Amino acid sequence: MWTAKKLVKAYLDFFKEKKHAIIPSGSLVPENDPTVLFTSAGMHPLVPYLLGQSHPLGKRLANNQLCLRTDDIDEVGDASHHTFFFMLGNWSLGDYFKKEAIEWSSEFLTSKKWLGLDKEKISVSCFAGDGNAPKDKESALHWESVGIAKERIYFFPKSENWWGPAGKTGPCGPDTEMFYDTGKEKCGKNCKPGCNCGKYFEIWNDVFMQYSKTASGKYEKLKQRNVDTGMGVERTVAVLNGLSNDYETELFKPIMDKIKELSKEYNEKSARIIADHLRAVVFVLAEGEGIVPSNVEQGYVLRRLIRRSVRHAKLLGIEGEFCKQIAKKVIGIYAEDWPELKKNSGIVLKQIEAEEERFCRVLNQGVKMFEKLFRKEGKISGKDAFLLYQSSGFPLEMTVEMATEKGLRVDREAFEKEFRKHQQTSRKAAVGKFKSGLADHSEISLRMHTATHLLHAALRKVLGKHVQQKGSNITPERLRFDFSHGEKVSKEQLAGVEKLVNEAIDKKIPVQREEMGLDEAKKKGALAFFETKYVPEKVSVYTIGSFSKEVCAGPHVKNTGEIGKFRIKKEESVSAGVRRIKAVLE
Ligand code: ALA
Repeated sequence: MWTAKKLVKAYLDFFKEKKHAIIPSGSLVPENDPTVLFTSAGMHPLVPYLLGQSHPLGKRLANNQLCLRTDDIDEVGDASHHTFFFMLGNWSLGDYFKKEAIEWSSEFLTSKKWLGLDKEKISVSCFAGDGNAPKDKESALHWESVGIAKERIYFFPKSENWWGPAGKTGPCGPDTEMFYDTGKEKCGKNCKPGCNCGKYFEIWNDVFMQYSKTASGKYEKLKQRNVDTGMGVERTVAVLNGLSNDYETELFKPIMDKIKELSKEYNEKSARIIADHLRAVVFVLAEGEGIVPSNVEQGYVLRRLIRRSVRHAKLLGIEGEFCKQIAKKVIGIYAEDWPELKKNSGIVLKQIEAEEERFCRVLNQGVKMFEKLFRKEGKISGKDAFLLYQSSGFPLEMTVEMATEKGLRVDREAFEKEFRKHQQTSRKAAVGKFKSGLADHSEISLRMHTATHLLHAALRKVLGKHVQQKGSNITPERLRFDFSHGEKVSKEQLAGVEKLVNEAIDKKIPVQREEMGLDEAKKKGALAFFETKYVPEKVSVYTIGSFSKEVCAGPHVKNTGEIGKFRIKKEESVSAGVRRIKAVLE
């Protein structure tokens, strides 16, 4: 039997043989990158290296990355789409390109020594070409030469065979996708690779990242030609075991069994949604980054995933508190390989339980109100949806789902209009962000990030060496920095910190990056206070003159002169012994 563990080991062993360094999974919540709320692909933490920065471990990397994509949420419930999933990937940072990537993909998939899949059942797709980039005949030829018959090589447009950028700008390129034919009947005449009916499982994607999309929408050639690949672990385990969907694999089975046991009126789709969503929630909460269900950003995603699970549980006739029981199953399956699940299980279970409770109150109120409005008007207008939202916190998506079940459409625009009228701008941002509306990856984030380092150093100079970073978050509008300190920071102290940071900016100090082992970095006095969850063998150390030295993945500006004027907007308490500063650049 193929377990996920066996697949992951085989993949990493294979790429080790091909001279790749194995790197740890980056965290699910990106540390200093406002372009996405969650790491959505293995390439994400590697963006600086795809853009040309040299990686401490060389030009060939591979790993098993935790990913979370909210874009696919409407597909969850089918055989193989998830919000949270594991992605195996191998990367060439300006080293090998199409030929090797395709040959190795083929070897790993079909060689008896590795996965041993039947080549005849594999189809591939390549980029059809458009005004931005030519048809990818080269990849097709490589596929032919490894024995994929021409009839099973498809050409699709950008909507299918182009990957990236992960945010609005950044590295991207044409890709070639690999599909396994499960043997199921075609769902119709047009059923072909890419169809989601369950006949074809897309198991791997090789992206040839040689472009960068600019803010103006142009595709510029990158300095180097990269390869970025992604293999979905859950799907591939299903395929290897001849299963028709991911939920029958050992990665989900105990969760699904538990849901079935608790259900009075079982339906597979709702059960899958619950299993998928609560697994995602457990992994995010287990990062221990202080992200909890809320109305903004990552917290909002957590809230939606938990609340959607609860609603589907109601459809299954599950009574009473149940999320915790499912979460315990998730922890049981994964804790051996991901120890933070066990370590933070207390927080995970507590947060899940509290949100479930809160939502049950909202739900009872909201469902009653929905039915009342529906009885009265025979429809649910955008204004009604807003009323539901405003008076009981009933989310728009829920209203839309319930309306859809009754064959009704909710006018989202009218909802938005009401929303704007009531000027709940921060919540609106959160609603938008849930689907994909991501902040722009722009220079401002580099400037904010370097300013964060200056702030950290300045706080230690003013308040003392006990100050340690506890958290950092950057949006295009502001930076937020949490640090250990036992009391309120006085006005004078804040003015002193602000002054030090601005002096360092005025001095136009170059920002330098070096690579070394973590121990050496610490010996040299580099600050490294992050929870040592996933520490690679080599780290980057950023030095700003004699002012600051920190272990950090970057990226940063080249010179502090680029930062602009630094201004502290707010200082407050986060929890016992932890303070928070919000600051802007003017
Ligand atoms: N970044 C590519 C993907 O996620 C490999 O499919």
